[in-house]
Amino acid sequence: MKTRLQDYPLTSTIIKLKTGRVQLTLIEDPDWFLEQLSREDKEGKLYLPYWTYLWESSIGLARHVETIGPQLKDARILEIGCGFGLAGIVACQMGGRVVFTDAEREAVRFAQHNADQNSAEANADFVQMDWNTPCFNCKFPYILAADVIYEENHWTPILSLLQNHLSPDGIALFSEPNRGNAIGFFKYIMDNGFTYQKSTLPVTLDRQTSQVSIYTVRRRNA
Ligand SMILES: C[S@@+](CC[C@H](N)C(=O)[O-])C[C@H]1O[C@@H](n2cnc3c(N)ncnc32)[C@H](O)[C@@H]1O
Repeated sequence: MKTRLQDYPLTSTIIKLKTGRVQLTLIEDPDWFLEQLSREDKEGKLYLPYWTYLWESSIGLARHVETIGPQLKDARILEIGCGFGLAGIVACQMGGRVVFTDAEREAVRFAQHNADQNSAEANADFVQMDWNTPCFNCKFPYILAADVIYEENHWTPILSLLQNHLSPDGIALFSEPNRGNAIGFFKYIMDNGFTYQKSTLPVTLDRQTSQVSIYTVRRRNA
């Protein structure tokens, strides 16, 4: 079935950052859509379309991207699981050239719309891509990943993506809201040739403030 942004009840929000503001078009009732769009995969596992929410991790990652802004100028950047596209949009505004990807076509369409309304589209490409089957044969000096490691079956394909698509001296920036299993992912990538530094910042979303962790990941021998 062909869908358009207008097929969703829409709302918009402004994310205030140090260097400016990003206007995002979002889905108004993500809980309802989560239920409507949930489905079972081939193995009977419930798949929940989490792209219908804006997550606090993307705000945390956007703020971090802003702080490292000058080093992103003209850099090629891959965002995985982009959802509504906030972190990648800020990377574009810092002068990076971002490929926004998500397994969900609808998420990619929202990201494109949001990039467009923040004058970021000229620096951007939009590709529906499942990280289990990456469709690139190039490497990126930066990879952005906001809240994508919440399920352990994501870890192996995301590790492969780092191994195959992060430049030898590249940096992958992960953010996540201190879920109990996150430490397992970072131990797993450390056991496979990567190292990381962690920092934490407070993020307020829907009037609730929580801590988001940012992980700066590099190859151990870089
Ligand atoms: C928790 S949401 C985070 C969205 C966004 N990064 C944010 O922080 O607001 C996880 C995102 O990963 C995407 N995703 C889940 N499985 C994926 C896969 N196998 N390949 C690519 N994207 C995937 C979802 O569609 C969703 O957009």
